[in-house]
Amino acid sequence: MQNNEMTVTPWEVEGVIDYARLIQEFGMQPMSEMVDEIPEPNWLIRRGIVFGHRDYHRIVNAMKNNEPWAVMSGFMPSGMPHFGHKMTMDEIIWHQKMGGMAFVGIADMEAYVVRNMSWEKCREIGMLYVKSIIALGLSENSVVYFQSANQKVKDLAFELSAEVNFSELRAIYGFMPETNLAKMFVTSIQASDILHPQLSFYGGPKPVVVPVGADQDPHIRLTRDLASRISIFSFEIIENGMRIRSRKGVEYLRKLTDELDFDKIVYEEHVDIFGDLDEIERNTREIELKLGGKAFIPPSSTYHRFITGLTGGKMSSSKPESFVSLLDSPEDAEKKIMRALTGGRATAEEQRRLGGEPEKCAVFEFYNFHLVKDDEEINEIERNCREGRILCGKCKRMAADMIKNFLRDHQEKMQEVEGRLDMYNLIV
Ligand code: TRP
Ligand code: SF4
Repeated sequence: MQNNEMTVTPWEVEGVIDYARLIQEFGMQPMSEMVDEIPEPNWLIRRGIVFGHRDYHRIVNAMKNNEPWAVMSGFMPSGMPHFGHKMTMDEIIWHQKMGGMAFVGIADMEAYVVRNMSWEKCREIGMLYVKSIIALGLSENSVVYFQSANQKVKDLAFELSAEVNFSELRAIYGFMPETNLAKMFVTSIQASDILHPQLSFYGGPKPVVVPVGADQDPHIRLTRDLASRISIFSFEIIENGMRIRSRKGVEYLRKLTDELDFDKIVYEEHVDIFGDLDEIERNTREIELKLGGKAFIPPSSTYHRFITGLTGGKMSSSKPESFVSLLDSPEDAEKKIMRALTGGRATAEEQRRLGGEPEKCAVFEFYNFHLVKDDEEINEIERNCREGRILCGKCKRMAADMIKNFLRDHQEKMQEVEGRLDMYNLIV
């Protein structure tokens, strides 16, 4: 999406982000309406840092009914893993703790073509992401893979790419006639990353949630559409039931009609089925699987806020001082925090009188997004700031100490992970 004040696309995020408008224009759902239904919402969800979603009710229902579901996200190994990536990693791990099967993709094919990275470099940096997410607590029964090493992902991507043409890619991603084929194909690889947890090898169709930044929404929308395009039956809600069509010929519709035990009206090109929507959908997917179809469920997604660069503007992997990498030395991280742009006033006197502005402060964002999970504690930091009871120097020092401790611990854990990587199902 592009207009005067903000640009949000997979290749560019610019301007002041108005999240309410982003939800509207992209057609997402606000997370605030869902929070009360989530069994044990994490701090990111509680604080609206995860601000939007698509179809998250599928995940909540599966959690509550103890049905199989999965969480999947991917990381492009083009720069060092940093706290922005940590946020996605924390989301994957939290969903895994809530009962989801976890899938973690290292997008080396994307990095190869979009960022011109060599396979060796992709491997080297990719492993830092793998070790980081394990050090953060990803459990052993997860699927962690490099795109280039995952035959299932590549095969499914090929089938998905048969459902997409150039005009569509141009409309979604702005591709040009000069755009190379690999750059187009990795969009199908990403769709396949997201859909492959539903292959029969992994137990078949299931709700899958993809935690991402809002810039990835075009991928999500295309993938949701591909889920239905590649499946045999498509659904449309009608009064008291569903209208079902076959995308692969009417003979499938005839077979479905014979097997579905509901009230129905059969037409030439579709069939109207009456009854409980979930029941109809579930039964239809079961029949589709028996007929050899994939019966994919459109994936759900959650969207987190963009993180601000420590130096003010946007965070950029080409500006190392604008973010803290999970591999920065604790001393470097400290320096970056101490130099960060805050929401403080020009003088100490003014700050005591007027208070700081945490909503404008990169350090407060660090506390809020990454460092402080306890709500009481974050509220206290915010109050102290707003009421001028703490000055930025001391506040930054506290944050720097927390980050230093975290990094020391994290880097130690990453080393320790090396010794038990073989316990994980790694596709490398
Ligand atoms: N394109 C994503 C990025 O630039 C990385 C990615 C690859 C991804 N495959 C994915 C994200 C699947 C979510 C799901 O960061
Ligand atoms: Fe930011 Fe802390 Fe300064 Fe407030 S006191 S503006 S939170 S650094």
